[in-house]
Amino acid sequence: MQSNSFSTGMEFSEELDRRASLREVRDLFKIPDGTIYMLGNSLGLLSAPSRSAVSRVLDEWENLAIKGWLEGEPPWFWMAERLGKAAAGMVGAKNLEVICTGSTTFNIHSMVSTFYKPSHGRSRIVAAADDFSSDIYALKSQISLKGMDWREHLILVQPDRRRQTSEERIEQAITEEVALVLLPSVFYRSSQLLDMERITAHAHRKGAIIGFDCSHSVGVVPHRFDDFSPDFALWCSYKYLCGGPGSPAFIYINSEHFDLEPGVAGWFGNVKETQFDLRLDFEHTRSAGGWQVSSPGILSAAGVEGALEIILDAGIERIREKSLKMTSYLIFLVDQLLSGEPYDFDLITPREPEKRGGHVALSRKHDASRIKEALHGRGVITDFRPPDIIRLAPSPLYNTYREIREVVEQIREIIDTGEYLRVSPERKIIS
Ligand SMILES: Cc1ncc(COP(=O)(O)O)c(C=O)c1O
Repeated sequence: MQSNSFSTGMEFSEELDRRASLREVRDLFKIPDGTIYMLGNSLGLLSAPSRSAVSRVLDEWENLAIKGWLEGEPPWFWMAERLGKAAAGMVGAKNLEVICTGSTTFNIHSMVSTFYKPSHGRSRIVAAADDFSSDIYALKSQISLKGMDWREHLILVQPDRRRQTSEERIEQAITEEVALVLLPSVFYRSSQLLDMERITAHAHRKGAIIGFDCSHSVGVVPHRFDDFSPDFALWCSYKYLCGGPGSPAFIYINSEHFDLEPGVAGWFGNVKETQFDLRLDFEHTRSAGGWQVSSPGILSAAGVEGALEIILDAGIERIREKSLKMTSYLIFLVDQLLSGEPYDFDLITPREPEKRGGHVALSRKHDASRIKEALHGRGVITDFRPPDIIRLAPSPLYNTYREIREVVEQIREIIDTGEYLRVSPERKIIS
């Protein structure tokens, strides 16, 4: 994977494809007609197993109606637990520690309201200024709900000039005054992958609870939660897990904490055997399942179920290996073909493989948003993140090396011909 083992020729990309692992997996996905889809870090594509799992549930709804909860094959009542168990291996957790439920932001509220117990002298929450907006909104509102001022109690670790948030900076912020830490595993803009193990050990030494938003890593980066015991984690299923738009998210809760009272309680968190007694005393099940709240959306969970089969079959280690090779190749091409005038792209993503997630972020001082729109016009699907970033996520499941090479060529053409200057500088409502 040394960059000197790559070359820029189109034929070289085809040679990489001939030797690529997981080549056959692409056929399980529906690639939108006429597109090069390089946005699996935002919404993963539909696969044949997801389609068939969703249509199975539709049939069950039609034929079994309410009986589907116990008579669906498999029964809907344990769907969230089943998916949690299926996903546990790829994050290195025990089966009961993972549940498929809620949404990313909702689960942050649920986790923070469970774990954040501010006391005199230990009331701060540490997060990263470059984390996703919704995570920070949730933290601010959780602090406000306690009748406290987030301006005083929320510490946002700032990135450096290279837009990296170093472990050192984070550790400096985690002092004995910190009650809770919430960090991304991979930053959504830069694709920087944090050393979660190191930060967790530091937080625990300081007596703080620590959790991670792994939305940008699960499905493309393996985790080993068992090895370093974070207190909680959560992640969405519509990016690298290909569960479908708005598909249910996941929570990991370290088994040490199963006895804690869920901060946000609901009847699906009750012990299954007595849930339908409908007693007014909530008895949460001693597993991550205890943090479920409402009836699970079975149709959208089915999308997750189908895609998980593919990912488990492929194996998360193999997925990571191919992802790193793809992003290394892309970085090589950016260095060779997109840096310097007139292209002027800078790489924001760390070059070290162990510090990198599944996408590559390129910044450009001017017109990045218009270049991304021009790419869309050509059927190359990427996205723009303010102020100046284009993200490219070659999926090891359904992208090819040839597509990576092609995208770089298309960016060059758009700049060479000035095509992007004909695109309105107005950003669309979704960029
Ligand atoms: C890191 C991160 N956290 C939270 C969210 C918000 O997710 P949701 O809309 O599922 O709450 C996103 C959405 O892309 C995200 O990337």
